Amino acid sequence: MKNVVIVGTQWGDEGKGKITDFLAGKADVVVRFQGGNNAGHTIKFDGNKYALHLIPSGIFRPEAMNILANGMVINPKALLEELAMLKKNNITQYNLAISNRAHVLLPYHMQLDQLYEDLKSNEKKVGTTKKGIGPAYMDKVSRIGIRMADFIDEETFYDKLNDNITYYNNLFKLYGYDQFDVDNVYNEFKEYAKDIKELVTDTSLLLHKYNEEGKKIVYEGAQGNLLCIDHGTYPYVTSSSPTAASVPLNTGISPQFITDVVGITKAYSTRVGSGHFATEFDNDVAKQIRTVGNEFGTTTGRPRRIGWIDTVVLRHSKRVSGINHLSVMLLDVLTGIKELKICVAYKLDGKEIDYIPANIKDYNRCKPVYETLDGWSEDITNVSSFSDLPANAQRYLERISELTGIQLSIFSVGPDRTQTIILNNII
Ligand code: IMP
Repeated sequence: MKNVVIVGTQWGDEGKGKITDFLAGKADVVVRFQGGNNAGHTIKFDGNKYALHLIPSGIFRPEAMNILANGMVINPKALLEELAMLKKNNITQYNLAISNRAHVLLPYHMQLDQLYEDLKSNEKKVGTTKKGIGPAYMDKVSRIGIRMADFIDEETFYDKLNDNITYYNNLFKLYGYDQFDVDNVYNEFKEYAKDIKELVTDTSLLLHKYNEEGKKIVYEGAQGNLLCIDHGTYPYVTSSSPTAASVPLNTGISPQFITDVVGITKAYSTRVGSGHFATEFDNDVAKQIRTVGNEFGTTTGRPRRIGWIDTVVLRHSKRVSGINHLSVMLLDVLTGIKELKICVAYKLDGKEIDYIPANIKDYNRCKPVYETLDGWSEDITNVSSFSDLPANAQRYLERISELTGIQLSIFSVGPDRTQTIILNNII
């Protein structure tokens, strides 16, 4: 039995999809446990490129089971569009199950997302993906959410939809936003419910069964630990917990089942949306990283903010997620940069600290303390082992591993599956 959790150690977009896809090759089951179509994974292989937002990366392996677990908020229309995209690309041999406890994301959640952002002044905007994620989780916590089990039961779906639309239309009217017609939404979405009904099941039971059978299970985190609703840079976070700690709750497995946690980091840092970013910089080197690393959002297309790698952030993620394997992605993007900076601590009002302050005003005042390492200029995109790397690239990786206290298990030097170098057996 193996239960391996993959988490982003930064603010998302660390390249988790590629590692999940890679590990899914050896896994029997791949699980998404939180978030919704705010996430975006681009997977490249055999010369093709696929953008996934809801579906786990294991979908490309006909023998793997893919699960959308109870911690997710699922937009059925977006899910069906993704399935249609796969069909168009002749990917039809797959296994997929959706938790009957997962929440359904509906069009009014997207309008609420827009409304809540519009009501905030510029500096207070979270910069959400506008996919309706926060409002869908708000309904869940307010106990008015529509779960998959309700969605596939026409009578319950209509009843709950009617309550919610009636309630939210009052709010939309107050602020001059579009009204929703219950029957229109119902007639459109009940068809989607029919299309996915067969896939909806109790995935907690399934996962227990797979564990009893000694199966290998990979849990694919979306976003990153710093976007966690509890342990992230609140309020500039998403509305779920992308930490390994949330896996048992969000899937219905026992915490004791988790065997390994792989933390994915870029060789540098990026962030989309608002919020303090201590190591951010914006000059020609940042532009070079953005261009070479193609640092534009998969879901929104927004240019990502660029920063140096921050080991305060990585140690924070290690602490809250129990990371025991480190995977450093996009190392090749740093090729040709003369000097590389690594943030080793923060300075807050003249005092050196090694944590992320909870108070956002304090975090805003944190300045990075850097160590500078020499870069390398050799092309590393074809290396197949650690010892193939130029000495300075080896030193850079070793230093990150030393500063985080996490063994380096994977590094990646390009977008293709073949450009992922595994140093320790994980699954
Ligand atoms: P939401 O998840 O759409 O509510 O957005 C909340 C914050 O999380 C914003 O700063 C988004 O840019 C960020 N975010 C959400 N999903 C992702 C992701 O997959 N990658 C990176 N940032 C994300």
